[in-house]
This record gives sequence, structure tokens and C-alpha cells, in this order.
Amino acid sequence: MAVTGSILELCNLTRRVGDGTPARAIVDNFSYSFGFGRLYSIIGPSGAGKSSLLRLLNRLDECTDGSVKFKGSDTREFAPCELRQRLGYLFQTPHLFDRTVRDNIVDAQPHLSESKISRLIQQVQLPSGIVDAPVDNLSVGERQRVALARLLATQPEVALLDEPTAALDPANTEAIERLISSVVTDHGVTVVMVSHSRQQVVRLGGEAILMVDGQLIEHGDAVGLVKNPGTPQGRRYMNGEPQ
Ligand SMILES: Nc1ncnc2c1ncn2[C@@H]1O[C@H](COP(=O)(O)OP(=O)(O)OP(=O)(O)O)[C@@H](O)[C@H]1O
Ligand SMILES: [Mg+2]
Repeated sequence: MAVTGSILELCNLTRRVGDGTPARAIVDNFSYSFGFGRLYSIIGPSGAGKSSLLRLLNRLDECTDGSVKFKGSDTREFAPCELRQRLGYLFQTPHLFDRTVRDNIVDAQPHLSESKISRLIQQVQLPSGIVDAPVDNLSVGERQRVALARLLATQPEVALLDEPTAALDPANTEAIERLISSVVTDHGVTVVMVSHSRQQVVRLGGEAILMVDGQLIEHGDAVGLVKNPGTPQGRRYMNGEPQ
């Protein structure tokens, strides 16, 4: 049965930077509710504040105004390491340390059994023999899958993905997209993903949110928003025109 209500509630979320008067808002009065076990794509031009928004959700950066509630509690009430485990983050380029695949997974979740490690390797569609390979010997696509296995090892409730396929070829992109769909539909994880590709947003479906100049411009069904945007900014973005 689907869980109702919001897993994440953003209320007037704002992050100001610099020493101008007023300081510049790179995330500007952003309010939105993310439901349980659903997929959300954040789209918008370069510099719109997409990564900045994502980093506020698990407090990799701190907001200067407003709040984020996770399951009804302000994220500032959680210890940062607990919050970052429950809201896992995947960077555009894989962040791993120079050891084996196993070491990288176990570092995220110590005491993981061999069978669980094997299941994770299988889940991210890597060959089982790869577990003892140094990650430096792997391709970027394989490393991004290891980074995803590392994230899944911690059983996050929310996965924050910042352009997870931007550095990948079409075959690896397709594999990661299948995985993203499966963590939502099979494991009930809420995924909030930044994407630069309108085609990817349509392929993945779910909800889309258009952000321009730090602000939420429009949101709705992903396919509908990409194919038939309801705002002038949305139409300009989808047509590849400057804002
Ligand atoms: N710590 C910071 N101090 C000052 N400015 C910042 C800081 N972090 C981000 N910015 C600025 O905020 C704006 C939004 O940056 P952000 O990286 O969030 O955009 P983005 O939408 O993710 O862009 P891209 O699609 O290129 O990744 C940019 O103009 C960036 O230079
Ligand atoms: Mg970015």
C-alpha cells in the first residue's frame, strides 16, 4: 500500500551567499513537498541553483532562511551523519576512495555480510568478480555503479542524485536509469534527481520541477511539463532559449 503524506517538506527554503546587500539568494524562497516512494526530477538552466537546492536537503550546506522537514521533523534536529545516511547523496562524478570495490561498500556500511555485498553488486549490474578489483581500474560508468551500490548499502529512505549520468555513455546511462526506476518501484525509496536531459526526464517519468534563478517556476507530471510547459520560463527552457 502506498504511504501517503510527505517525506520531505521544504518551507520557504532560502540560501543566500556573498556579501552584497541583500546577499544573493541562490535558492530563493523554495516551498515544495516530496511524497514517499516517488521519483522527482529537478531541471533548469545551468546556474539555476539545482545542486545548491539538493545540498540543502541533507544539510551538506545550511539554509539561511526557511526549513526542511524530514518525516515531520526539522532536519536540524538530526545528527548530520544520521541525516546523510537516511538521505544519501550521489555526486555527478563517483566519489570513491582508492581501494577495492568491497572496501568502498563496507566503508559505507560496516559488518555487511558477503551475501549482502554480492546482492548489491548484482543489483547494480556489475559482474560478481569485480568485488576485489581496485576501483581505480574501473571505468567511470562502473565506478558510478559502485558509488550507487555504496549508497544503497546504507538503505537510504531518500536518494539525492546530482546529474548521476552526466559523465556516462548511453549504455551506462540506460543501466543507471533502470536502477533508479527500480529503487523507487521495488524498494520504495524517494528519489530526487537533478538532470540536464529532458529526454531522460521523460524516460524516467514521475514528477518534474523547473527551477530558474533559485526559484521554483513550475512543477507537475514530468512528461507533461517537458512536452507542454505552462509558463514562459518553462517554454523558453524547453526550447533551449536563454531565460
Ligand atoms: N558557495 C557558494 N558561494 C557563492 N556562490 C555559489 C556557491 N555555490 C553556488 N554558487 C552559485 O550559485 C548559483 C547556482 O549554482 P548551482 O551549482 O546550484 O547551479 P546548478 O543549477 O546546479 O548549475 P549546473 O546545471 O551548471 O550544475 C551559481 O551561480 C553558482 O555560482
Ligand atoms: Mg549542478
